[in-house]
Amino acid sequence: MKRLAILASGNGTNLQAIIDAVESGRLEAQIALVLSDRSNAYALSRAERHGIMPQLLVRTEKNKAEYFRLLLESVEKANVDLIVLAGFMKILPAFFIEKYENRIINIHPSLLPAFGGRGLYGSKVHRAVMESGARITGCTVHFASHDVDGGPIIEQMCMEVRDIDTEETIAERIHEIEHVALVKALSLVLSGNYEIRGKRVIRKA
Ligand code: GRF
Repeated sequence: MKRLAILASGNGTNLQAIIDAVESGRLEAQIALVLSDRSNAYALSRAERHGIMPQLLVRTEKNKAEYFRLLLESVEKANVDLIVLAGFMKILPAFFIEKYENRIINIHPSLLPAFGGRGLYGSKVHRAVMESGARITGCTVHFASHDVDGGPIIEQMCMEVRDIDTEETIAERIHEIEHVALVKALSLVLSGNYEIRGKRVIRKA
């Protein structure tokens, strides 16, 4: 059984979607590690509620220089096959990405390559979408690469931007499709039934 590490900084609804899919047998995987960088992340309580003892690794003045080495150490100790960034608010450094090349999955709340990259996260993404006048938005699940939000795209789902939408209503509906897209992407990656060609993730017949 493949082992997952899930890193989350916030509410953890995407973590919850993975937990639910694993518990219901829709995803054949074991959650070996849930880790957060924020002590008030609700994701921590979600893990506990499902019998997973989460780890907390906060970046402090003291551990600043070695933070990502400590993070890598935790992940390696858990002996995982895949890492899921489920709303993890830190950009992983190159040495970390290289160590887990094409084994780190990120979810982003826009249709990449639009509205992604450094500085575009959370409500900033939805604000940028609204200001652009785009009529369609969505979410993207992709492999993490050196290029922030620029790795090979595994799965995308789209939705309409309605005239009455606000950043909040967009965020709410995007979360709903994220949960579906993330489980779908994970299921493909866990199956191993794909090939990465450049930026494309090609399904094998
Ligand atoms: C999601 O919108 C995801 O795309 C982004 O962070 C958010 C996390 O939401 N990277 P949640 O904590 O899983 O509810």
